[in-house]
Amino acid sequence: MRILLVGPGRAGMSLAMAFSAAGHLIVGVVGRTAKSAEVGAEMVGAAPLTPADPLPSGDLLVIATRDGAIAAVASVLAAGGPEIDSAVHVSGLTPVTVLDPLRRQGMRTGSFHPLQTLPNPEAGAARLAGAYIAITAEEPLRTQLEQLAADIGATPFRLEDKDKALYHAAAAAAANFPLAALAMAEDLFAEAGVPWDAARPLVEAVVANAFDLGPRAALTGPVARGDVATVAAQLEAVRVQHPAWQLGFARFVELLTRLTGRTEEFEGVLDAEEDG
Ligand SMILES: NC(=O)c1ccc[n+]([C@@H]2O[C@H](COP(=O)([O-])OP(=O)(O)OC[C@H]3O[C@@H](n4cnc5c(N)ncnc54)[C@H](OP(=O)(O)O)[C@@H]3O)[C@@H](O)[C@H]2O)c1
Repeated sequence: MRILLVGPGRAGMSLAMAFSAAGHLIVGVVGRTAKSAEVGAEMVGAAPLTPADPLPSGDLLVIATRDGAIAAVASVLAAGGPEIDSAVHVSGLTPVTVLDPLRRQGMRTGSFHPLQTLPNPEAGAARLAGAYIAITAEEPLRTQLEQLAADIGATPFRLEDKDKALYHAAAAAAANFPLAALAMAEDLFAEAGVPWDAARPLVEAVVANAFDLGPRAALTGPVARGDVATVAAQLEAVRVQHPAWQLGFARFVELLTRLTGRTEEFEGVLDAEEDG
C-alpha cells in the first residue's frame, strides 16, 4: 500500500517503520512542523510535509496525532480534497465518526489501534510484531486493515465503536494498574534491603500464570489462603516501616478479599487498619 502518515510521534513512527519494513511504501509524513516532519520522513524515506501542503495520492491515510487533535486534523486534510482511498486513526477510544469530514470526501474510514505500548519508533516497531490490533471498519476496508496488521506480524481483532470506552478501560487496567502495585513493591523491597531485580522471576511467573491459568486461578498468597494473621502482620509492617504505602497496601488487600470472596474474614484486620 502507499501510506501517508499524519503525526510522526511515538505510535505513528512505530507503525510507519513497521509498515515500511513489511514492504509498504510510506509516501509522505505530515508533521505539525516542518522539522518534526523531516525527522520522521527521513526514518522511512518519505516526503516531509506539513498540513498546509497538498497531499500526494495514496491508498491509506494514517492519522496518529494525540486523540484530541484527530477531528481538527481530519477537517483540515478534508478541505484539501485528498486523493486517498481510505483513512484510519490509531486511537483506541475515539469513534470512527471523528473522521466523517474525510468520509464526506469519498474516503473509507476506520480505526487501527495497536494494543501495545509504543514508547519510541524503534522499540515500538519491534513490539508491533506479535501484538494485537483492534480494527473498526466496514468492508472492504476491514479486510485490507486485517491484512495490513498481519503484514507487520500482528493479530487483528474486531472492535465496535460502542465498546471502545470499556475496551480502553480494560487496556488501562492491564497496562497501568499493575505498575502501581509494582511501584509499591519496589519501595517496600528497598525498605527491607532487597534489590528490585530479585522480584523479576516472581513477577514474570505471575504474569505467565495469569495467561496460562487465568488471573483468578493464578492468585496465591495469604488472602487467597484466608491467612488473616499473616495479612495483619504485613499491614502492621507497612504501617510502621513505610507508612506512605499504608493506605495503598490496605486498598489492594481489600480488592483481593473481594476477588476471593473473603471480605467477611478480613473485615476485622481492615477495620483495625482504618482505625489505626
Ligand atoms: N504511544 C503508544 O503507546 C500508543 C499505543 C497505541 C495507540 N496510540 C495512539 O496513538 C496516537 C498518538 O499517540 P502518541 O503516543 O504517538 O503521541 P505523540 O508521541 O505525542 O505523537 C503525536 C504526534 O502527532 C503530532 N501532531 C499533533 N498535531 C498534529 C497536526 N495537526 N498535524 C500533524 N501532526 C500533529 C505531534 O507533533 P508535536 O509533537 O509537534 O505536537 C506528534 O508528533 C493517540 O491516538 C494514541 O491513543 C499510542
